[in-house]
Amino acid sequence: MSLLRPNIAAMKGYVPGYQPPDIASWIKLNTNENPYPPSPAVREAILAELGSDGASLRTYPSASSQALRETAAELYGFDPSWIIMANGSDEVLNNLIRACAAQGQEVGYVHPSYSYYSTLAEIQGAVVCTYGLSDEFRIEAFPEYYHGKVFFLTTPNSPLGFAFPNDYIEELAKNCGGILVVDEAYADFAETNALDLVRNYDNVVVTRTLSKSYSLAGMRLGLAIARPEIISALDKIRDHYNLDRLAQAACVAALKDQAYFMDCCHRIRETREWFSKELRSAGYEVNPSQGNFVFAVSPDRNGRRVYDGLYSRKILVRHFTDPLLSHGLRITIGTRSEMETTLSAIREIS
Ligand SMILES: Cc1ncc(COP(=O)(O)O)c(C=O)c1O
Repeated sequence: MSLLRPNIAAMKGYVPGYQPPDIASWIKLNTNENPYPPSPAVREAILAELGSDGASLRTYPSASSQALRETAAELYGFDPSWIIMANGSDEVLNNLIRACAAQGQEVGYVHPSYSYYSTLAEIQGAVVCTYGLSDEFRIEAFPEYYHGKVFFLTTPNSPLGFAFPNDYIEELAKNCGGILVVDEAYADFAETNALDLVRNYDNVVVTRTLSKSYSLAGMRLGLAIARPEIISALDKIRDHYNLDRLAQAACVAALKDQAYFMDCCHRIRETREWFSKELRSAGYEVNPSQGNFVFAVSPDRNGRRVYDGLYSRKILVRHFTDPLLSHGLRITIGTRSEMETTLSAIREIS
């Protein structure tokens, strides 16, 4: 007799983007990390927290991450009771499912988007339903009224790069009987965001991450913004000390250095526009992107061939085997110089 729950024994598990051990020898454009270091204030805050002998690590960190909630609340214009901090936004995505969907209940999301939702729902024993996209990037066959417990909307969408307009998200919120999670992992690179909808709709939750726009993927920092009733429920579920001391210090410093943050985002957006234009002139199809990546399709629509060509030149991008995506590649926007090297390699390969 298996010692495991049958759904855990049967599931495949999520395969994250490859992190090569010799990372410095690659141009790494496969997991939408930021090419720039975090704000210098982050390093200072971590060192200050550590102190000369690291003695601060003896004691547990703040269980509520209250200083972070207050900093984020001020930044986004909410009361701190509307914010929860997480060990990466993955943690809060997981806890939203645990809070709202029992075994056998539906968790839905748009496909293609972030397939980790599916893994998290499977762990919970929920029923996973995916909803395809139309050619105009709207959800095909979204029911007149959604009876599932949680629906994830990734906007900007990864890997395709488009963002759903707010009036469309609002319509979905009105017709959603469960929680509508607007996963805004890439919103800092976009022209719009759905924060106003959180204020106006009880069932809307926005999630954010510091992994991408704040260059802190290695610290694991994310957050959710929602009505206090939802935040309180999420507080009951999370690990009580979910954020370590150094992550908490880093988070406050990063969120407070808005000048540095805005400059980084601006540079990435500029490079994204330049790189998209150059790729198009090389014959590639490139979706206009609102994220820190582009989805690009070579003239022969053979994503794997271009992936292999780049890989052999030590440039790592993301190729998905999913039939809806295998013709293209998701390429993270790095520094201008990394993208110039990547472009020359693509021109050689094509
Ligand atoms: C759409 C989306 N949501 C959430 C995450 C997870 O982010 P975090 O690093 O905060 O866990 C990612 C990471 O790639 C993502 O692409």
